[in-house]
Amino acid sequence: MQVILRQLGDCVVRRAELGDLIPVMEINLKTLPEHYSDYFYESLLAELPEAFLVAEIGGKIVGYIMCKTEYGFSNFKKLGFVKKGHVVSIAVLHEYRGKGIGKVLVEEAINGVKSKKCDELYLEVRCSNNEAVKLYEKLGFVIKQRLKTYYRDGEDAYLMALEFTY
Ligand code: ACO
Ligand code: ZN
Repeated sequence: MQVILRQLGDCVVRRAELGDLIPVMEINLKTLPEHYSDYFYESLLAELPEAFLVAEIGGKIVGYIMCKTEYGFSNFKKLGFVKKGHVVSIAVLHEYRGKGIGKVLVEEAINGVKSKKCDELYLEVRCSNNEAVKLYEKLGFVIKQRLKTYYRDGEDAYLMALEFTY
């Protein structure tokens, strides 16, 4: 059964289903240099369907976000061991950007990881990726670290994180 979370004009944001994974992988291939195996997409969908979401317009998948949960040291509390959500990847097809779709995908993924009682949500983003950094800052994420040569091409990443209050 489809789980629709938000409607933004003619765009529906809903939980991904198995049949969405091919278009999601196609968007990933077109928009980002970091790619993953089919198995990895399937396992993220199986493990955290609450935060594996797609944006659909007239039956076409135009964006996605996928996340996982982890246990580890807090990005906020000294010596704290917490449950963390991790945004593995988000993208919106170029021609559909700037319409608020990315923002709704992150907002709904935040709700999804909160429903799993996570304490924080974090991600890595290229330091040069101004659009994405702005989007995350707008939603309350803060830059916590600069990860030197994080990417295969040598670029640094910002580790950005958001602490939840319940
Ligand atoms: N310039 C400046 N700020 C921008 C821009 C831009 N071109 N685009 C988005 N933003 C910021 C703004 O703050 C904007 O809010 P505003 O419109 O109220 O000013 C906010 O982001 C939300 O914009 P949306 O329209 O919701 O974002 P969009 O749907 O365009 O998606 C995304 C943003 C996902 C980053 C898109 O640009 C994209 O797919 N980029 C390529 C893939 C990518 O870089 N993904 C992130 C990698 S990091 C990771 O996956 C963890
Ligand atoms: Zn990551």
